[in-house]
Order: sequence, then structure tokens, then C-alpha cells
Amino acid sequence: MSTVIDLVQLYQFAGFSVQSSLNPSHFEGFNNKGIPFSYIFSGTKIYEGDQLLCVGGGLSFTEIYFLECLFKEYTPGNIFIIGNAFGWSTLTMALLNPGAKVVAIDACPSPDELRGIEVTNALARKSNLNAHAVIGTSPDDVNKIIESYFNDQVDFVFIDGEHTSKQLLLDFYACRESTAKKCVFLFHDVINFSMIEAFTEVISSQEDLFGSLLFRTTSGMAIAFPKEFEGVIRPIIDVFTEPDQRLLDLKRIGQTDLNLEAKLSEKMKLQLKLWR
Ligand SMILES: C[S@@+](CC[C@H](N)C(=O)[O-])C[C@H]1O[C@@H](n2cnc3c(N)ncnc32)[C@H](O)[C@@H]1O
Repeated sequence: MSTVIDLVQLYQFAGFSVQSSLNPSHFEGFNNKGIPFSYIFSGTKIYEGDQLLCVGGGLSFTEIYFLECLFKEYTPGNIFIIGNAFGWSTLTMALLNPGAKVVAIDACPSPDELRGIEVTNALARKSNLNAHAVIGTSPDDVNKIIESYFNDQVDFVFIDGEHTSKQLLLDFYACRESTAKKCVFLFHDVINFSMIEAFTEVISSQEDLFGSLLFRTTSGMAIAFPKEFEGVIRPIIDVFTEPDQRLLDLKRIGQTDLNLEAKLSEKMKLQLKLWR
């Protein structure tokens, strides 16, 4: 069965319901930063009284499909995640990588994320998944938790915590120090939350990492990976982004305010630079 079916059924069997992957143009008052993603509600049907658990949206179906394609070609053994929320991405990674160990942290700012930790661990146990959700805050707890939970080096990191450029860099550098030299880093929401420049800094500061924005993923994810994996990973990336020239053309076509041209071209230069 497919991963999204397994995942939705896993939550439903446990008494939750899922809202996912909706188009904001179909629902007045919603935007592309919220409704296209995945949310867990208490109760098996989304009635008025049912409560949204965790405000942080999880991976969209398209993004899960991207991961499915990626992990068919590239198989990590140890996966670390910043941002567990209600466990959606933690369980996705574990379902897609049955041979891997998955550990996710969450700072748990409210009782919802604390419940998210419990539910994630209970669902992982129920499905025999090697996934663990732990209370922890990045960057301070990253090293300690990686050291105590993994026997071998972490080779895949998913960063989906606080969506600011400053925090993205703190998350990345903390993980970089504690993970394998050949680790692959995937960042959620880079384009949606205007973190392109922070991602560019990641790539320019790390001689051995290649990177790309993934324009065909819902949140505008970005991936950084060591040169060794270029042959395996690049063909998948090429399918989940747009060619540079097409990006430039689209920006030009959508351009109504000509004064914006200079600003946009600066941004495009940043994007064009990403491949070494
Ligand atoms: C967008 S949600 C994560 C969604 C999750 N990855 C998924 O797909 O279901 C972001 C989560 O990151 C957590 N978070 C924010 N800043 C953090 C930090 N510095 N360290 C650990 N967790 C953090 C929040 O509590 C929140 O639950």
C-alpha cells in the first residue's frame, strides 16, 4: 500500500482524523502557508467540536511523494528530525525507511506537542516502527540527543522547526557538527517562509555540499547533499524543481511592477548560484 494510505489509516485507527493537501483557492480565507499541509484532529470525523492538535502543519502528500522517490534511490540508516509536532513526518520517514532508526525532537511549547510526543511513540510501537519522539530544543539539545539515541552516525536530517532564517542556520550548524560527513539535509518551507538566503548560506559555507531548492514541492523545500550522492540524488531533484531558465521566465511573466525587477533578479541570482 502507499505511504499516505498507511499514514492516514494509522492516525484514523488511533482515533484521530487528518486534514491534508487542500488547495487554498478552494477555501476562502486560507493561504498557501497553511491549508496545503497536514493537520491532525482529535476524533475520527472533523466535526465542529473536534480539536486541531498542533498548529504546525506537516508534510503535504506531494512532499511525501518526493520522499518516496528520494528514498527509493538513497537509503539512510539513521534519521534525525527537528520539529515533531504530532509525528506526521516522523512516522512518514519511518514508514519509508523500514531499516532505519528515526529520532525526532520537539521543543513542546504547548501541551499539544507534548501529547504529540506520546502519540507518535505509541503509533510507532503499534506499527513496529523504529521511530522515537523526544522533548528537546534545537540547537542546545541536538548534540546530546543524537549522541544518546544513535549508535551509528546520522546520515539524514530533516529540519522543520522554527521557520526563520536565523533558526534554520542554528539548526543546520548544530546538526552538521553531530552528523556524518556524508549526511543529507532536507529543509521544509524554505521558499514559503522566505529562508532562501539562509539556505544559500548553508551551501556557500560548506565546500562539500551541493544544494537545490525544490520548487515542485508544496512548501518549497530545499536539499543539501554531499558530492558523492550527486549521481543518485540529482535526477530526483531535477524532477522536483524547475529549470533555472523556466524560473526566470515565470518570474518575468508574473512581473507586473517593473520596479521589482531589480529585487527579483537579485533573488534569482541567489537561486541560480545554488548548484556548484
Ligand atoms: C511545522 S511543525 C513540524 C511539523 C512536522 N515536521 C510534521 O511534518 O508533522 C514545527 C514544530 O517545530 C517545533 N519547534 C520549533 N522550534 C523548535 C526548536 N528550536 N527545537 C525543537 N523544536 C522546535 C514546534 O514546536 C513545532 O511542533
